[in-house]
Amino acid sequence: MQISLSKAYQLLMSGQVVAVPTETVYGLAASIERPAAIDQIFTLKGRPSNNPLIIHIAKTEQILAYTHSFPKDFMNLAKTFWPGPLTMILPIDPASVPVRACAGLPTAAFRIPHHSLTLALLEWVGPLVMPSANLSGKPSATRREHVEADFGKEFPVVDGGVCGHGVESTIIHYSEKCWQIARLGAIPAEAFESVLGYIPEKVNGDRGTHPICPGQLYRHYAPKARLNLCSDWEQCQGIVLGFSERHYTKARRVLTMGTISCPEQVAESLYALLRQLDVEGIEEACVDLDFPRNGLWATIAERLSKAALHVPLSSEENRVP
Ligand code: TXA
Ligand code: MG
Repeated sequence: MQISLSKAYQLLMSGQVVAVPTETVYGLAASIERPAAIDQIFTLKGRPSNNPLIIHIAKTEQILAYTHSFPKDFMNLAKTFWPGPLTMILPIDPASVPVRACAGLPTAAFRIPHHSLTLALLEWVGPLVMPSANLSGKPSATRREHVEADFGKEFPVVDGGVCGHGVESTIIHYSEKCWQIARLGAIPAEAFESVLGYIPEKVNGDRGTHPICPGQLYRHYAPKARLNLCSDWEQCQGIVLGFSERHYTKARRVLTMGTISCPEQVAESLYALLRQLDVEGIEEACVDLDFPRNGLWATIAERLSKAALHVPLSSEENRVP
């Protein structure tokens, strides 16, 4: 249910959860001052309690309430990429962050989102903790309708239209004297070179037993359909998620991910397309993974690979074995 900014302000201040737009994906927001609302986020999403939340702020100085320990180049990164789709993990004073929000870790993840509506809320309410506004394991929400599909028509959403980037923020952390990528995202690894003088490495495989981001342990972005990844586009068959300029001779139907010349467009519509498979009741589809691996393509390939992991949901949540 679409709500105004002032209604969102009221709900957040009174300890309720609302969905808000960001430039990456919609977020499920709670005031960092409201522990019951933070608990509610985990319940609503079906999110494992060991998976911490990103603290969203309006201004870099607000971080001083949580830490005074800033790794090399932190300020340059903040100046270059904030507001924007960069999340930085920093050591914190553990007493300053609700234990539920940071899952008891000695660190927290911070970002300033680049969306005028949500920045206005952050100015009024103060820091908001928010994960992506989707049921745990499902594709993130990039439109209000996606949030309503997961949490019901009556769920309060500030409608900011379509999220421009369409994939989540890039998460980095500092270790062994350099920044490393803990989650690929909307900012490609190469974009950091001009600030850092090097391209940060992606660390910890998706199935690593101790990934830096606990969220990487879990199955993600997955529609109900079984996705088969195909690295040779000419072999794609059946229902194909493919590119507009390719003619798939073995395909029964092609659902286009966009054009091979524009990864930004592919990223923007990626989750909408994965969600469409569920809406149409499609059980199996073949994904054309025959594309470059540089820049944003690396993020797109990673999301599609995660979406293709098929692990039965168990009471132990959707943990990747
Ligand atoms: O673009 C985004 O980042 C979106 C929008 C709403 O801001 N948010 C988002 O949140 O993707 P979520 O909760 O879906 O993913 C956050 C990831 C999880 O994998 C979590 O494990 C990791 O961030 N994370 C959060 N705090 C962390 C910490 N202290 N150390 C390591 N990883 C952390
Ligand atoms: Mg998420």
